[in-house]
Amino acid sequence: MGACPSSVHHSSIRGTIVSIIIRETAGPARGGPGFHLRNEAFSYAFCVLRNGHLGALHAGAPIRGQEGFDDLLKPEPRPYSCSVYRDDPSLSLEHLRLEYPCYGTTDFRLPAIRVEPAAGAVLCDFKYRSWRRFAGRSAIPGLPSTYAESPDEAETLEVELFDELIGATLVLSYTVWRDFAVISRGATIRNDGPRSFALSACASASVDVPMAEGTVLTMSGAWARERELTTRPIAPGLAASYSLRGISGHNGGPFIALASPGTREDSGEVLAMALVYSGNYEAAADTDSFGVTRLRIGLDTREFRWNLEPGESFSTPEALVVWSGRGYEGMSDAFHRIMRTRLARGPWRDRPRPVIANTWEACYWDVNEKLVLELGREAAAAGVELLVVDDGWFSGRRDDSRALGDWRPDPVKFPRGLGPVADDLAKLGLGFGIWMEPEMVSEDSELFRAHPDWVSGDPARPRSPGRNQFVLDLTRPEVAEFVFRSVRDVLSSARVLYLKWDMNRPITEAFSPALPADRRGEFFHRYLLSLYGVIERLAAEFPQVLFESCAGGGGRFDPGMLPYAPQSWTSDDTDAIERLRIQWGASFAYPLSMTDAHVSASPNHQVGRITPIGVRAAVAAFGVSGWELDFRALDAPDRNLAARWTAWWKENRALMASGDFRRLRGFADGDGNEVAWAVVARDRSHAIVLHVRTLAKPNPAWSRLRLRGLDPDRLYRVRRTEASAGAPHPATGAEWRTRGDELQAIGLPVEDGRSITGDFRTLVFELSPAD
Ligand code: DGJ
Repeated sequence: MGACPSSVHHSSIRGTIVSIIIRETAGPARGGPGFHLRNEAFSYAFCVLRNGHLGALHAGAPIRGQEGFDDLLKPEPRPYSCSVYRDDPSLSLEHLRLEYPCYGTTDFRLPAIRVEPAAGAVLCDFKYRSWRRFAGRSAIPGLPSTYAESPDEAETLEVELFDELIGATLVLSYTVWRDFAVISRGATIRNDGPRSFALSACASASVDVPMAEGTVLTMSGAWARERELTTRPIAPGLAASYSLRGISGHNGGPFIALASPGTREDSGEVLAMALVYSGNYEAAADTDSFGVTRLRIGLDTREFRWNLEPGESFSTPEALVVWSGRGYEGMSDAFHRIMRTRLARGPWRDRPRPVIANTWEACYWDVNEKLVLELGREAAAAGVELLVVDDGWFSGRRDDSRALGDWRPDPVKFPRGLGPVADDLAKLGLGFGIWMEPEMVSEDSELFRAHPDWVSGDPARPRSPGRNQFVLDLTRPEVAEFVFRSVRDVLSSARVLYLKWDMNRPITEAFSPALPADRRGEFFHRYLLSLYGVIERLAAEFPQVLFESCAGGGGRFDPGMLPYAPQSWTSDDTDAIERLRIQWGASFAYPLSMTDAHVSASPNHQVGRITPIGVRAAVAAFGVSGWELDFRALDAPDRNLAARWTAWWKENRALMASGDFRRLRGFADGDGNEVAWAVVARDRSHAIVLHVRTLAKPNPAWSRLRLRGLDPDRLYRVRRTEASAGAPHPATGAEWRTRGDELQAIGLPVEDGRSITGDFRTLVFELSPAD
């Protein structure tokens, strides 16, 4: 069999090898076209099977276009299996690799889609109908998504399928990017029939890959120890990460990866998915007994149920599907680049982020005008650019027991309101930022007394408090409007340049009396749609405001918030040594431009650890750096160091935000005592390396830190700073010249020889061109 040339539709972007190749001619096992999306780094192929469903062919290394990949489809009769056709025992879906599977018609693995029709069996049978292709990428109504800045940087394929009995149209969308090893996927389902039906699962991406060995990587954790990495061997059965908390959560995050056996940072194959979403999700690797793993990501499938009336449609969030043939590093590069440049948006996407001083760990709720201005003066002297008034500024807020929802400045703490405070800070050369937790209400608040019915939950049942507060029912338009206006009024009341949008409890008793009984399962997703809608309106009205997302630290540290808030509070744990682990874990999927990291006091407030200010500043430098301490409490030498580290970060922030992150040595290496990473400029001209030896070791072994990603031919000037001993170079420094090949083949000296410099010894190496 062979494809006749007229049946091949080929497109490519601006002469690059980015293309979508469509082979219309069917082979023996096919019932329609084969599709091959590819760019220089990634090939993704699937086809229409004889029964009209889609078969998965390849998601991995770039390959050339072929005669339709029929060699990859070899249905064979198998014992104890059911077949789609009476005359063909070989077409058993269970034994094929599927692209967007339904349950119940010979496949027994977790389905991508589940439709519950008004009558009859809960089955669906989506059959291929047509395809279309267009340049660029279209937005998803109501949801955050990636975008193309020009039509020639992405191309989208939409494949339409139809279930005749239900009257449902399913459109699967695939965007292939010119510059990223990423395929953006999503699905839209439309009710084209005469009766309503419900959707109880609708994945953003599902693909079956021939991987029976290797590692499943997910994120796990808890408050103050977010983004821990969990590795499990790929083995028959299910490995999953999910949230049912209404937020993506501290305990995981919408990310999952499959890695080939022996994958390291710079070698091995990785297929990964991340979901552009901030609420309940499910990421699963379901391995069967025949060496195939179904990798799937999308909305949660347990609580979710969405009703579709005739004419209505539903779109899933976007899934970013990444393939790397260069280990975990290649995966992270792909996620970082697309998230930073084509998911984050708005004026703050590329602007240098201001150095922030936040009042939270400086004074918690005891914030007031006098203190803010005092801290402002000290912060300005240290080179800080923006002061954020965190929790405690609004009417009667003394602790976490009251006042959420009453967003007026407390008359005792801020008798002149916020405007004059912002103006006075401006005179000090500081921008003004504010904290809000707009989705919440305290029982002891005017808002609650006026609108007790605005709290989400079933009025017939008790509601569970969390941090003494309750969640507003954002699914109700009048509540969403209140939230919008509350924030708008605060942002208009002063020269506000930054907003920290917090969310300090998960959602329990998820329910809105305003939703009809058959729409109860829509609560969580409607909440998210409403939240995105409110922030979108605010971001449009206040383009000058830099939004930072936060949920009790990193409870909403996910791709879904990025289009509105280009940076996110990574964790309430600000201890430098704890942050090594948290920022390390976060870096697997998330760019440094998103990862907010502040220098806080010592002893640290979360774990009591005592570390020198240079250690804290050096670790916080690898992210969006800022300060979270009472500058007045610093002694003169530390004040001086604070200023020098702030100046140093400003010099380097562009590189930190845009460079490639290289994880060099981690807790899983050796005895786990050393952590090292680097940021390397995209043009390889500059790099900054961090090496932290957690506990002092007497008489240490010879040790060199080998770098990656440098230009081997380039002569670099290396400046070494012992951050734990104080200021950045040259105070604690040494300087020499070395070529990239030597730095990669032999490495940087990181041992102490005979001198022991104590715990938490932290080295920073700055590489710049020497010729
Ligand atoms: C949780 C955040 O993560 C903290 O940074 C701080 O803003 C508090 N909430 C305030 O209540």
